[in-house]
Amino acid sequence: MQVVNTVEKLQQQISEAKKSGLKVGFVPTMGALHNGHVSLVKKAANESDLVVVSIFVNPTQFNNSKDLERYPRDLKTDLEALSKVKCDFVFAPSVDEVYPEEDNRQFNFGDLETVMEGKYRPGHFNGVAQVVSRLFRMVTPDKAFFGLKDFQQLAIIRAMTRQLNLPVEIVPCDTIREKDGLAMSSRNMLLSDAQRKNAPLIARTLFESCNFVAGTSVQGVKKKVVDTINTDAELDVEYFEIVDGYTLQTVDNWDESDYIVGCIAVFAGEIRLIDNVTYKL
Ligand code: PAJ
Repeated sequence: MQVVNTVEKLQQQISEAKKSGLKVGFVPTMGALHNGHVSLVKKAANESDLVVVSIFVNPTQFNNSKDLERYPRDLKTDLEALSKVKCDFVFAPSVDEVYPEEDNRQFNFGDLETVMEGKYRPGHFNGVAQVVSRLFRMVTPDKAFFGLKDFQQLAIIRAMTRQLNLPVEIVPCDTIREKDGLAMSSRNMLLSDAQRKNAPLIARTLFESCNFVAGTSVQGVKKKVVDTINTDAELDVEYFEIVDGYTLQTVDNWDESDYIVGCIAVFAGEIRLIDNVTYKL
């Protein structure tokens, strides 16, 4: 495993590999790696010859400066985790390396970005699209791997790749959870003991809600999920939307689409956690 910090070095290495016909698999991350990230790297290793992981906390996607400040960073531990799996290159650039000049591009993802995360974190997906499109140009991957945990992000990345005509296959990867069901997230380590203890209620409630879909309206399921989580003193639901899995627009009844997903954002104190559950596919 080699760690490279500059685009020049990265491209030297990748163009060599590509000349010998190797397929490049890419996993973009912001570090503070956990088993969710590692599962993406393993999938990349299964589906490609050369695995590149980027570790870069992208300032342009943080709409809240406090969130950016406290975002966990620990390159040494991240490199240890990556050395245990097949990872050929770790790309860990500086902010200036990724953004030698300010990126003023404004993407337009239409209705995909006006809902849920896009609504509550204005500018977030524009920043994600800026950095991922730049990283794609730098790494030139054949395939790139993204977690379904960030369900809306995956839809945005797909739209961005289409809009820019980038020759990259986007591969969705299942959400990896702690034993108690909590979706793994770099932000989990910021939770207090009490918050961490109660946070699994989010996933538990989402899973349980699948059982009463058959006899309950969409509105009924929504209310039950929100009420259940909000009864917990540590948790406060920001939104819970039941949406068409392709368009991300809310559905009013279960027959409206053949792909229906429930997406939630919950505050545990100041820490914001997201998760989702598939009701129908
Ligand atoms: P980050 O939050 O570090 O996540 C990197 C990748 O890991 C994303 O594709 C995310 O969906 C995936 N991931 C996170 N938790 C997961 C889990 N529990 N199970 C499976 N996959 C999981 O998402 C970002 O970084 C950034 O927005 C990025 C795409 C790197 C752009 O800056």
